[in-house]
Amino acid sequence: MLSWDDYEEAPSNDQVAIAQTATEKVAAEEPAVVQATMQSAIEIAAPQYTAPPVVVQRAAPLAAPIQPVVAAPAAPVVEAPVAQADAPAENAERVTVDQKAMINCRADLNQLVPFKYEWAWQKYLDGCANHWMPQEVNMTADIALWKSDEGLSDDERTIIKRSLGFFSTADSLVANNLVLAIYRLITNPECRQYLLRQAFEEAIHTHAYQYCIESLGMDEGEIFNMYHEVPSVATKASWAIKYTKEINEPGFNTGTLETDKALLKNLIAYYCVLEGIFFYCGFTQILSMGRRNKMTGTSEQFQYILRDESMHVNFGIDVINQIKLENPELWDQEMQESARNMILEGTTHEVAYARDTMPRGVLGMNANMMEEYLQFIANRRLAQIGLAEQFPGVKNPFPWMSEIMDLKKEKNFFETRVTDYQTGGALTWD
Ligand SMILES: [Fe+2]
Ligand SMILES: [Fe+2]
Repeated sequence: MLSWDDYEEAPSNDQVAIAQTATEKVAAEEPAVVQATMQSAIEIAAPQYTAPPVVVQRAAPLAAPIQPVVAAPAAPVVEAPVAQADAPAENAERVTVDQKAMINCRADLNQLVPFKYEWAWQKYLDGCANHWMPQEVNMTADIALWKSDEGLSDDERTIIKRSLGFFSTADSLVANNLVLAIYRLITNPECRQYLLRQAFEEAIHTHAYQYCIESLGMDEGEIFNMYHEVPSVATKASWAIKYTKEINEPGFNTGTLETDKALLKNLIAYYCVLEGIFFYCGFTQILSMGRRNKMTGTSEQFQYILRDESMHVNFGIDVINQIKLENPELWDQEMQESARNMILEGTTHEVAYARDTMPRGVLGMNANMMEEYLQFIANRRLAQIGLAEQFPGVKNPFPWMSEIMDLKKEKNFFETRVTDYQTGGALTWD
């Protein structure tokens, strides 16, 4: 098991007492609003799983070499609206660094090198170096504790169920947004290489939540439908989905001020808010449980995931800032205002989630402490994309979270692994 001794001692009895006596009001959700937002979420679910026409158009040039074998006359060539770089026939020259760009690039996207964004390639390498799988984590103690009548309070059980409920679908939303919306529009191969790594990590995260849910014998229907049925979870999911909808319309493409801004908003919504704020209440709650030697397997899964997520957020912020640098006209007053409002809205939704999941003090924390933590995180997200902090003077009430995020592989991180990976470098051809 991971050693929690590396982290700060548990909060004092005084802190626990403060947490337990604090009165929290339960977030008041308007059922009608939630109903409406989820309706929109459902409405766009179908297009997400429908191959957009542009994919078919892009396939045409790749099929060109085999056309002479086919007797039927070639169909009229439809010029793909986004035929920037994926079509080798149109981009026969060698790519130079200065031809590369984050968006609207017309150089050949199949040429990974020469690198322009070394940081993106490095993050890809770092992500691969941190590879892990959910089955490697021992869940035995969690199963015994979850099935026992003692050891977990009702409030702690609610937190576990809500966390698995939110995350089990949130990582799918992130993966779908990456693969179906962002990937096509980021026109740089080293960034795409990281996006592919991130997409696989999101699949691993969804696998990890499914693995926890299955191990604990939970009602899978109840957990996986929380993003439809539990207002504080549904609000966060539908908030993010509307930004996917904006750029996932068939025919959407970047290249105008308006559409480039729509992509930038999507990146801010997903990297700064969904992965950068919406994950933080649940992560803190579950990791706090692990620090108290409860649900240590689940907590260890979340710890691996948090480390991955921390890199996702850093990558996304680098992408956002690079797009701003290369396209300064996008970062006008209106866009800055939108970005600020998105981060503030996201913070409000996450605070509501904290109040819903912590009606009383639990695990040495309460919703007021979480609110301050989320404001601290929001300040950081604002500053990371060049905006002024909006919550002056707030402090981090959970400094041990930063230590967990910064945990290095060498520091006992893989102590619990039951298998070694056979990497390409380890293969022999004898
Ligand atoms: Fe994830
Ligand atoms: Fe992520």
